[in-house]
Amino acid sequence: MTDRTALASFEDLAPDDDDFLAEVLEGLADEPKHLPCKFFYDEQGSKLFERICGLPEYYLTRTETGLLRASAPEIAALVGPDCQLVELGAGSGEKARIVLDALERPAAFVGVDISRDFLVEATAALAADLPHLAVHAVCADFTKPFRVPAVEGTSDGKRVVFFPGSTLGNFTPDRAVRFLATAAEVAGPGGAMLIGIDLKKDARILDAAYNDAQGVTAAFNINLLARVNRELGGTFALDGFRHHAFYDAAEGRIEMHLVSLKDQVVRVVGTEFRFREGETIHTENSYKYSVPEFQDMARAAGFVPVQVWTDENDLFSIHYLASGAGT
Ligand code: AVI
Repeated sequence: MTDRTALASFEDLAPDDDDFLAEVLEGLADEPKHLPCKFFYDEQGSKLFERICGLPEYYLTRTETGLLRASAPEIAALVGPDCQLVELGAGSGEKARIVLDALERPAAFVGVDISRDFLVEATAALAADLPHLAVHAVCADFTKPFRVPAVEGTSDGKRVVFFPGSTLGNFTPDRAVRFLATAAEVAGPGGAMLIGIDLKKDARILDAAYNDAQGVTAAFNINLLARVNRELGGTFALDGFRHHAFYDAAEGRIEMHLVSLKDQVVRVVGTEFRFREGETIHTENSYKYSVPEFQDMARAAGFVPVQVWTDENDLFSIHYLASGAGT
């Protein structure tokens, strides 16, 4: 267990295991079968995702990181002094660090993530590195309505919700707009959102990013079944399923599935699920948006798009959105 003493506060609003069980039973009973992608991120899954972020085919992370570095002075000028940065999905801390290093006297950082140990590790490391910054951690499922505790010393500065990594793409467009509306509430009047969004592009680049040569994305996908086995006593044969990811241009999304390699029966706490050969469990969508498409969604959620940065190859975008009247 990582040391939490460097943190200004730690709040545990994590869902209990019953949520995992209920959503697994519901998803596997459905036709077609599906499982929520938020459950990818147990300790094992979070480590695999970190490896994905460093893969040559997965351009998202390094492109966004480069773009953040290049646009950091402009971001800092828009945000102004004494801000409170609220990061959803505390990640590795690298991206937040780029923004924090550029900001003028940031007052506080609040990391929000569903993966408790990962969150504590990332925020504690940040607090140890930046002893003058008040670093808070909130363990919560931010895909559901969530709150961020009031943090002292930020009355003059803005609250800026930071949501990098194109994680918004893992929601359906309807849910993405609802999520953005919640983020606008968290930012509050005069606040802002800084969000990374993967752009639409040649399907070959997208297909390669989700079908890497080393098979890390496949292991990340299969880990969901391993997690059901570990935590819910599931009986999935891990070699009985294979990873399948493809770009659906009409939907504008990557779909990830686990394909059953044979007719088989799997049990999860006493409930039997039958799979036909070739039947799939749909495990993830990753929507890609053009700049105007995303800006329309942001407006529908009550934000005012202020600035957008894209890289020279038009792979990725970072948007600065104002909530309410302010910039
Ligand atoms: C976290 N999320 C933005 C990743 C994505 O690209 O949709 C998750 C992922 N799935 C497979 N590779 C990465």
